[in-house]
Amino acid sequence: MAKSHHDKIAVASGGANGIGQAFAQRLAQDGAHIVIADIASGSNTVSMVEQAGRQALACTCDVSSVESVKALASDVTKHFGRCDILINCAGIFPNQPFDEMTFADWRRVLAINLDSVFLMSAAFAPAMKQRQWGRIVNMASSTLGSVVSGFVHYMASKAGIVGITRALASELAPFGTTVNAISPGLTRSPGTLARVPRAGMASMEDEYTHAASMQAIKRPETPADLVGTVSFLTSDDAAFMTGQTLNVDGGRVRS
Ligand SMILES: NC(=O)c1ccc[n+]([C@@H]2O[C@H](COP(=O)([O-])OP(=O)(O)OC[C@H]3O[C@@H](n4cnc5c(N)ncnc54)[C@H](O)[C@@H]3O)[C@@H](O)[C@H]2O)c1
Repeated sequence: MAKSHHDKIAVASGGANGIGQAFAQRLAQDGAHIVIADIASGSNTVSMVEQAGRQALACTCDVSSVESVKALASDVTKHFGRCDILINCAGIFPNQPFDEMTFADWRRVLAINLDSVFLMSAAFAPAMKQRQWGRIVNMASSTLGSVVSGFVHYMASKAGIVGITRALASELAPFGTTVNAISPGLTRSPGTLARVPRAGMASMEDEYTHAASMQAIKRPETPADLVGTVSFLTSDDAAFMTGQTLNVDGGRVRS
């Protein structure tokens, strides 16, 4: 029997590491061919995708740059002819108190986390519309529903992502294309491991343990906890679901 994502083409920004890499691996296991769009080397993810028996293309791409996203879209068209599934996972989350945050810090987070979703959607949605089938999945964050400090720019970018998810869903729904977002809790990844712990936390290990204590399911979240949701949202089974932001955070935020 054909797999759920048989021969679909999925573009995963941020697919070189962490959650994006886990998404790329899972979608390949589901039968998709994968494009990794990242500023970091995607070679490890390429191996994972090939191990799953699917084709992989790693593109160096800065998702906050108009030119870079344009070049990516051209590479994807040349190599695979189309993009059926767009996963906007690239993101940064520097922890900075507001009174130390410069306008350049603010702009950088907004550019990488939010402008990227505009640019990538603008690059790939028109062809999804034309083919009357597409799936876009964006990354929100449970910080939006939590009491945390140091993330004014980050929370603003993620609130923007919830907004673009809702708004774009209406425009693409008539064309068989859905737009949804996943909102994870604090998840172990290279990015969070490298980040400065929040005020009052001695290390990121402490922060993972603290986050777990705030969840209904009291263990730290990993990328593996998120892959089933992205698999579902990008499948035919999720065709009637759009504009939603799903909390996948061990029950930390309820809405
Ligand atoms: N890990 C968490 O706790 C958590 C929680 C909520 C939401 N998220 C969101 O999930 C996404 C992935 O997070 P992660 O923890 O896997 O991060 P990560 O840092 O481990 O991986 C992020 C990837 O994005 C890439 N990237 C960064 N800037 C880029 C750019 N300008 N262009 C292209 N690629 C770029 C990095 O090179 C890296 O490969 C982010 O959007 C993040 O905000 C993460």
